[in-house]
Amino acid sequence: MVVTQATSVDDTLSLVSDSARVIAAWRAIETEEGTPLCVDPFAAQLAGTHALKVARSMAQPFDGRNLPADSPHRHRAFKVSNVAPRVWWFDRQAEAALGGRTGGTPLTQVVVMGSGMDTRPWRCSFIPASARWFELDLPDMAAIKPRAMRALGAQTSGEESGAEHPLRCARWQALAADLSGASWVTQLEAAGFDRAQPALFILEGLLMYLLPAHAHLLLKTMAEVAAPGSVVVTHNITDRLVRGVADGSIAAYPPFSLDLVKTWYYGFADDTEAEFASLGWRVTECSPRSGLVRQVFGVTSDEELEGCCDFDCAVGGSIDSFSSFVTAVVAK
Ligand SMILES: C[S@@+](CC[C@H](N)C(=O)[O-])C[C@H]1O[C@@H](n2cnc3c(N)ncnc32)[C@H](O)[C@@H]1O
Repeated sequence: MVVTQATSVDDTLSLVSDSARVIAAWRAIETEEGTPLCVDPFAAQLAGTHALKVARSMAQPFDGRNLPADSPHRHRAFKVSNVAPRVWWFDRQAEAALGGRTGGTPLTQVVVMGSGMDTRPWRCSFIPASARWFELDLPDMAAIKPRAMRALGAQTSGEESGAEHPLRCARWQALAADLSGASWVTQLEAAGFDRAQPALFILEGLLMYLLPAHAHLLLKTMAEVAAPGSVVVTHNITDRLVRGVADGSIAAYPPFSLDLVKTWYYGFADDTEAEFASLGWRVTECSPRSGLVRQVFGVTSDEELEGCCDFDCAVGGSIDSFSSFVTAVVAK
């Protein structure tokens, strides 16, 4: 699918909130593939001209000659980016949780922390029509998002029923909240979150921006307000990457600029399951990025994946010690 060139929702964002545009830009590039890992018709416009240009300049030609002959991915234009398998995985985990395949109960409340330019409420057909969808982000992002989505023809409230892109859920709300504190609970409940009902929490590309104590407080508070059956789907860099960037032994983590990487403080501990257990969550899946890529391509060997990804996708390769993907159910 070829998406229209960005017209940009021209607002000034902080470096941290601007990171949402970087992710949107890579979703836009993935959307153009013949067999894309995600289709986001809004991503190019949300990314804006600059982020899209940077991502395009970094995209590398694909060479999947070792993939099985019948692989639907053999004819990609570009190598799979660091971002695309992550979006693919979050979509599948969210679908499983909403369908009740993770915690046993179909979930109809979704809370997206650090939602940025995420467009799942409009692009994901697996969302139950009865779902209530809450997004929380910093004030600048929370203010821009509804305007940006409406400008792209997306429905943001019940009053816009004739919109070109209807909401796939019953209600969508963007809340301004600094997730490094705990005041978000009051805001969420004031917006209609029901702590008696199980919920899906999505934390994609957020935790690294928080201080370790704040990230722990967030995960712990989520566990406190989460009814039995609630699920969290998240990922993060590891503490190893944070330490390596701090002591200068790691000087690059593409496709992210070093300036952006230096705004990352919190990484998962080596024993992520124990860390989650101490915060009220029982891990049901914990995968390195190489595991995601193997799921995406349906292959197992490093040789088959040669030329497929723009990062080291070997099992145990550098990126595996720098990031981790976690699904957990609340321990109640
Ligand atoms: C890399 S973007 C990810 C956006 C989106 N989840 C995605 O994956 O496309 C990180 C998001 O976290 C938000 N964020 C960072 N620190 C935050 C904080 N303390 N409170 C709320 N949101 C925060 C940023 O504004 C930004 O939108």
